[in-house]
Amino acid sequence: MSSLAEAKSESITLVQVTPTLRLNVVQDPSSGIAYQLWPSATILANYLSTSNIVKGKAVLELGSGCGLVGLSAAAFGARSVILTDRPDALEHTQRNAAANVTESVACEPLAWGGGLPSELQKSFDLVLLSDCTYWQHLHERLLETLEEAVDEDTVVLLAHQWRRREVEQGFFDALSERGWGWKVVRECDADDVIVVEMRKRGGGEKQETRTEEDERAALLDRLRLLEADLESIEAER
Ligand SMILES: C[S@@+](CC[C@H](N)C(=O)[O-])C[C@H]1O[C@@H](n2cnc3c(N)ncnc32)[C@H](O)[C@@H]1O
Repeated sequence: MSSLAEAKSESITLVQVTPTLRLNVVQDPSSGIAYQLWPSATILANYLSTSNIVKGKAVLELGSGCGLVGLSAAAFGARSVILTDRPDALEHTQRNAAANVTESVACEPLAWGGGLPSELQKSFDLVLLSDCTYWQHLHERLLETLEEAVDEDTVVLLAHQWRRREVEQGFFDALSERGWGWKVVRECDADDVIVVEMRKRGGGEKQETRTEEDERAALLDRLRLLEADLESIEAER
């Protein structure tokens, strides 16, 4: 067993984010939700490669868990990436950062709703979060933290897996009520995951209507995903 996987139930998996990017993911599902990789993370990480929004950007990730999303952002050329999670889960995030290239990556403790520590009181171009919208009782705290972390120019990319739609829809309703503009930029039917692009603004209009251009981009993204899957299957033959 590698020294990176010292605990008995820990394992390291090589995850194919894109045809050209593979990252090590240390997991220990028996230790809790932060210790395993969720489908949303792989989908959001892959999405970062298809848009030109990461290169040179200052990136903050919330609820990083294994950190695949933020670590992918670093691999795709982000200027700086801060991975965050609850203080008790951060060691696992740090372990994942150490299992990959860590230049430009830092890890900081951050529990939602408790205010931003001074290390995080700076301007971020991009805030990322995957599978952090499942618990209704945390929606308010998560929104508070998001609102502290963004300014008008910050783009937020959030991946959400639908599990209890009637409950989780409340998060998106709250977004609109609190003045966020948002739209779905990728849908992955197989895992029931959506990637949502959000910005905080004064108006607060809900932006669910997708333009023809959005539809075309979503179709192209799906094609790329299929191509990536095919290449992975070919590579494993
Ligand atoms: C379902 S996991 C998703 C992990 C990772 N983003 C992924 O998609 O693989 C939810 C993450 O949110 C974190 N989290 C839960 N409650 C939190 C809170 N109150 N403050 C900060 N992070 C929290 C968990 O520790 C965990 O890492």
